[in-house]
Amino acid sequence: MYKEISVFEHANTVLEKLTPGIFLNTKFKGEINTMIIGWGGINIIWGRPIFLVLVRDSRATYNLIESSQEFTISIPMESPMKKEIAFCGTKSLRDYDKFKECNFTPVKGRKLETPIIAECQLHYECKVIYKQTLNQIAVPDNVKSRYYNNNANHTVYYGEIVDQYIFVKE
Ligand SMILES: Cc1cc2nc3c(=O)[nH]c(=O)nc-3n(C[C@H](O)[C@H](O)[C@H](O)COP(=O)(O)O)c2cc1C
Repeated sequence: MYKEISVFEHANTVLEKLTPGIFLNTKFKGEINTMIIGWGGINIIWGRPIFLVLVRDSRATYNLIESSQEFTISIPMESPMKKEIAFCGTKSLRDYDKFKECNFTPVKGRKLETPIIAECQLHYECKVIYKQTLNQIAVPDNVKSRYYNNNANHTVYYGEIVDQYIFVKE
């Protein structure tokens, strides 16, 4: 069952839930995946609601978003889902079908092909309208040494929010 919400209504929840981690879902050609993100959030850019996500180019998710140019976000509001967050935040599609391992039910987006996770409640469907790979020359030294020392770079994806809702599994 879908409950309609307005786009900024749960912006605070998004921010609060980012610290433990929220699910970033992707799909391309029949392959579906989810991973955890801790950075990003809902913004207003060019007068539009935009979900920003930062994805390292070493993630399987990076390849899926590059191909599909869309993603969905699923956020648990009823349970902390600690086990599932730990799993999806450390394991890759290269080794695991994470939907299967976590017993997640994929439900196709209302506007996009990419599914949402039915076991979560708050969802955003996002179409990539712009991306920017971080210019490491401009990254502060103390950030570089902490986050990019021999590590893959981040690409910031600007996902225009084309749908948002609460989903209650029946
Ligand atoms: C709390 C938490 C936050 C994370 N935030 C991000 C993030 O913002 N960007 C990112 O690229 N990876 C982040 N990760 C790591 C990915 O979720 C992890 O590498 C995942 O296994 C990638 O899966 P994939 O290879 O199937 O895409 C985070 C992990 C955790 C546990």
